[in-house]
Amino acid sequence: MPRLPKLPAPPLPSALQAPPPRPGEGNGKVGPIDQAMEAGVTVVDWVDERTSLSGAARWLMFRKVPKGTNWFYTLGSATMFAFLSQAVTGVFLAMYYRPDPAGGAYESVRYVTNEVFLGQFVRGMHKWGSSVMVILVFLHMGRTFFFGAYKYPRELNWVIGVVLLILTMVMSFTGYLLPFDQRAYWATIVGVNINGTGPLIGPYLSDFLRAGPEFGATTLSRFYAIHMLLLPGAIAALIGAHLYLVAKLGTTAPPWLKAEKDPELRKAEA
Ligand code: HEM
Repeated sequence: MPRLPKLPAPPLPSALQAPPPRPGEGNGKVGPIDQAMEAGVTVVDWVDERTSLSGAARWLMFRKVPKGTNWFYTLGSATMFAFLSQAVTGVFLAMYYRPDPAGGAYESVRYVTNEVFLGQFVRGMHKWGSSVMVILVFLHMGRTFFFGAYKYPRELNWVIGVVLLILTMVMSFTGYLLPFDQRAYWATIVGVNINGTGPLIGPYLSDFLRAGPEFGATTLSRFYAIHMLLLPGAIAALIGAHLYLVAKLGTTAPPWLKAEKDPELRKAEA
């Protein structure tokens, strides 16, 4: 098989390139606007000289995308931004939340909602954001399915996606208990019992989730730890792997378009 020619590295975006000297410049005087414009370039240059990170950024961001790429391709990024929004709002909620089943959890959530400045807004963003993320992840999965993006060579990315889907739903499940009101309590008992009916691992799974023979303090702190430490870490790492594969393999062309060969490749094959 002929070796594929190496495509040249894409240029830096024009905003990060030093502007060419303008006529009349060169008299040693630099205006404040020029200085401000150059400041960004200088900072990027400074960091790049010490880290060579611009190479990685260019590898990640400057990609040829197939013809026919459309709005449905933004659903993966939309899911990622929903996750980031959940992470940021979750950090603020964690500043007030107490995983104490003897009234403390409920009281801390009541306090955030009613007393804290913008607390209701941040809690609302987190609560509605969780539904938005679940809806987006399903739409994104539908897009990749109907565009055939699960096929060779992207099977592994599909499998990582399936794990991300499961983790997203476990995130919703564990978060639902945290306000520790009547609805959260009874809905979680139902959910844990449903898990218990699963084959083979079901009973172990429900024991693990309950963290003891009965629902109580250990259940709540276990759900809290899973919700705010274990799952966000795992989801962030898997999104990293998912995006690495997207960047490495490129995205799939819509199935109704026949892929065009790159002229460079056609030349190499001739
Ligand atoms: C937290 C959840 C997820 C995030 C943040 C995420 C993010 C992304 C992003 C940003 C892309 C590239 C742009 C795009 O095609 O939309 C992508 C592509 C892809 N995702 Fe996801 N994804 C998630 C879940 C899933 C799920 C549940 C599946 C399937 C079970 C999946 C399968 C794929 C596949 C196969 C591709 C490659 C698409 C192509 O080559 O055209 N992802 N994902």
